[in-house]
Amino acid sequence: MILITGSAGFIGSNFTKYFLSKSKEAITSYDKLTYAGDLINFSSIKEKDLHSFIEGDISDEKKLNKILSELKPRAIINFAAETHVDKSIQAPEIFFKTNVMGTFSLLTSTVEYWRKLKKTEKENFRFLHVSTDEVYGSLDKHQDAFTEENSFKPNSPYSASKASSDHIVRSFNKTYGLPTLTSNCSNNYGPYQYPEKIIPLTIINLLNGKKIPIYGDGKQIRDWLYVKDHCRALLKILDQGKVGEIYNVGGRNQIKNIDLVELICNLLENFGAGKSNNLKNLIDHVKDRPGHDTRYEINTSKISNDLGWQPKETFETGMTKTVSWYLDNYEWIEKILDSGYSKWIKKHYK
Ligand code: NAD
Ligand code: TYD
Repeated sequence: MILITGSAGFIGSNFTKYFLSKSKEAITSYDKLTYAGDLINFSSIKEKDLHSFIEGDISDEKKLNKILSELKPRAIINFAAETHVDKSIQAPEIFFKTNVMGTFSLLTSTVEYWRKLKKTEKENFRFLHVSTDEVYGSLDKHQDAFTEENSFKPNSPYSASKASSDHIVRSFNKTYGLPTLTSNCSNNYGPYQYPEKIIPLTIINLLNGKKIPIYGDGKQIRDWLYVKDHCRALLKILDQGKVGEIYNVGGRNQIKNIDLVELICNLLENFGAGKSNNLKNLIDHVKDRPGHDTRYEINTSKISNDLGWQPKETFETGMTKTVSWYLDNYEWIEKILDSGYSKWIKKHYK
């Protein structure tokens, strides 16, 4: 069995479903259920007998020690984190508690468990840490895409906390020999993403006739990857990745924020959805994000050459699937908008 931390969030819940669709192996989800995690994200799981859920914090070593010795996972995938850059600017402390100290606690419990395993189980064990391209900082117009060799230059409390966690993972591999793997992925989009992030925020605001806040001139560039392609990459890294290595994952879809939002307006208009005759009129240029990274682009040569991974979705196919999903799942949107998380959104997006 494998243990997935942070699996009630966006990527973790997508990965859980993807893994269950590909394998007969059991999964245990471990999640603190912060504002960003919700059990509703598991409601479409068909293989219910193979999936179980434990509510818990990755900082709780005592609980983790007990769970690991009882469940004896052959692998752990760590998705658990605070993930929203704007929130990290407003309230950075929890980012360092969870992303830095929480990852440290999870690794401490994991090493203790791993050391007691028999030789073969010990050799086959894997700890996969899911991280972000944001650790590399920001590219200017002419700089080459991020490779695994780029140095870390994080600019936000979020990316600084993730960079720290990546370093801790590396140190547990080098010092204690824990068989770790790390992935650094670009911006994901797709079903079940919380509407604090730009794509679901735009879709949901347009559906409700609300303004779309574009930070600054909107010319910042992100490299978008459809979440299922990320899940495919993670499974490949888990199964075939070389211990101690880092793999960059990206969508090869670089698009300016303003073009992204206009594309969503066009897609919604094509679907005949949205509460305005001209959705683009809802675009509202607001004050820029402090320390706003200008551009991310990922060089995916390593994962493509070593593990044979390529994204399957183009931006057009992935975005069409995503917009359709949000249109078909208004119940999910209402539940999420009604949850504790919405208080934060209401406070920051009037
Ligand atoms: P998310 O915010 O949607 O979900 C995070 C999950 O972690 C939630 O279910 C939350 O309840 C849980 N969690 C938070 N603190 C916890 C704690 N202390 N103990 C246990 N569980 C806790 O995030 P996401 O977008 O699914 O991202 C998952 C991982 O992937 C993160 O580590 C993130 O840094 C990384 N990542 C995300 C993106 C992206 O575009 N979303 C891109 C690259 C990497
Ligand atoms: P976001 O989805 O928060 O992801 P990240 O900051 O991790 O890249 O933001 C994506 C881009 O969209 C980023 O350049 C900031 C911008 N953005 C806006 O312009 N307005 C918004 O309301 C949000 C949430 C983001």
